[in-house]
Amino acid sequence: MNTVFNEDIIFFLDKRVENNSVDLIIADPPYNILKIEWDNFNSEKEYMEFMISWLEKSYQKLKDTGTFYLFNNAYNSAKLIPILERIGFNFIDWITWYKKDGFNGCKNKYVNNQETILFLSKSKKWKFNADSIRVAYLSTDRMKHATKKGILKNGKRWFPNKNGKLCTNVWEFVSERHNNKINGKIIEGIHPTQKPIKMIERMILASSNENDLILDLFSGTGTTSFAAKNLNRNSLGCELNSEYYKYILKRLKGE
Ligand SMILES: C[S@@+](CC[C@H](N)C(=O)[O-])C[C@H]1O[C@@H](n2cnc3c(N)ncnc32)[C@H](O)[C@@H]1O
Repeated sequence: MNTVFNEDIIFFLDKRVENNSVDLIIADPPYNILKIEWDNFNSEKEYMEFMISWLEKSYQKLKDTGTFYLFNNAYNSAKLIPILERIGFNFIDWITWYKKDGFNGCKNKYVNNQETILFLSKSKKWKFNADSIRVAYLSTDRMKHATKKGILKNGKRWFPNKNGKLCTNVWEFVSERHNNKINGKIIEGIHPTQKPIKMIERMILASSNENDLILDLFSGTGTTSFAAKNLNRNSLGCELNSEYYKYILKRLKGE
């Protein structure tokens, strides 16, 4: 418990995790788009077969109330929805991660500035802590006024929530590569696709409680395991690459 294994996802799911035992899965798999060894598949067919192989097993691991967040690009996500539903997942939402920064300058279509996070559950009775992920109201002046006097809505006075408004399904987080710039220059870190920890914390706070069990599938730099530890959740992760794995162990030890 509370560790990451340096092994293939299929072995990990078969050997380390009991069926119906997991509250939340956060999966950040290869997208089949990068020129990097772990993201390279011979064909889309081969890629989809790989995805199906571990998605089917992941479904078995979730408790009935469990939820599943799946990162990918829009194209793969659209293709995956019918496959996920066939496996048995309940589709809840399509979350758009608006990355704000870091686009490449293509000129024959709109510049890509987003990734997709599919939000799914095992059954219709998933857990969701909406109040724990409230975000700041945008119109601060209006809210100042509303806090004092309220705003008249349908004959009733509405007062803003002191913790902010409910979180929407468009998430704005600057990518890690652009958070870690020095003098405006990107510094290549240990991993090319590390996810912002604040984004992972949002998923954990919304979809789990303290001491729940979270699976960190395709751990990379262990962002999910690290966030789970900080938020007093239990976690189990897997990462095939031994360099990334060594980095995760150090990160979890706080080094
Ligand atoms: C998109 S990255 C995850 C990044 C991670 N979310 C983070 O914040 O650092 C996907 C990771 O999956 C790993 N991986 C690829 N194929 C795998 C497999 N079959 N089993 C386990 N890990 C795998 C890669 O080495 C890579 O680090």
